Amino acid sequence: MTKTILGLSGSLRRASFNAGLLRAATELVPKGARIEIGSIRDVPLYDGDLEKSSGLPPAVQLLQSHLQAADGVLLVTPEYNNGIPGVFKNAIDWMSRGPGLQMWAGKPVAVIGASPGGFGTIMAQNHWLPVLRTLKATVWAEGRLMVSRAGDLFDADGNLTDTASRDRLAEFMGGFANTL
Ligand code: FNR
Repeated sequence: MTKTILGLSGSLRRASFNAGLLRAATELVPKGARIEIGSIRDVPLYDGDLEKSSGLPPAVQLLQSHLQAADGVLLVTPEYNNGIPGVFKNAIDWMSRGPGLQMWAGKPVAVIGASPGGFGTIMAQNHWLPVLRTLKATVWAEGRLMVSRAGDLFDADGNLTDTASRDRLAEFMGGFANTL
């Protein structure tokens, strides 16, 4: 049976390197697995009063339904100030509310990312670890993918054009998908 991976990019930018990395992953994931791309765009800022009065926002409910159905999750994270971008953490925080906490528990999660700098989001990827541990997710740590110098590897629309990076991504996705 085909395995489904929920893929989330933590950038809202049109030509985002990380959204492009996620699109490339959908093309390079091995046979027997597919990536369902979820969007964090319509997730509001977390507000406990809003949650109390209206419950989970529709965008969060949609993401949770994808999470529930997924065999694994791929987080494609930018790095801001050596950490997780707020918009991405905000979306995952919302997704952990209500029935979401149970959905994360034991879910295999892989983290990758791209940045124009020389360290390819290594700090942001590390910052996800305590978050994922708190969610009781199962972090897939056999592979690592830090895409550095992204400006040289993506086209103007944020498509990953560099062959060596695509090969590394295919290898990463093969390793992750094989464990699902
Ligand atoms: C950045 N950027 C960045 N890059 C990095 O490698 N380490 C960092 O600490 C930071 N810090 C940082 C802070 C803020 C507020 C911004 C807006 C940006 C640069 C970042 O990697 C770059 O903007 C990427 O293009 C963001 O990813 P997307 O949008 O291309 O997916």
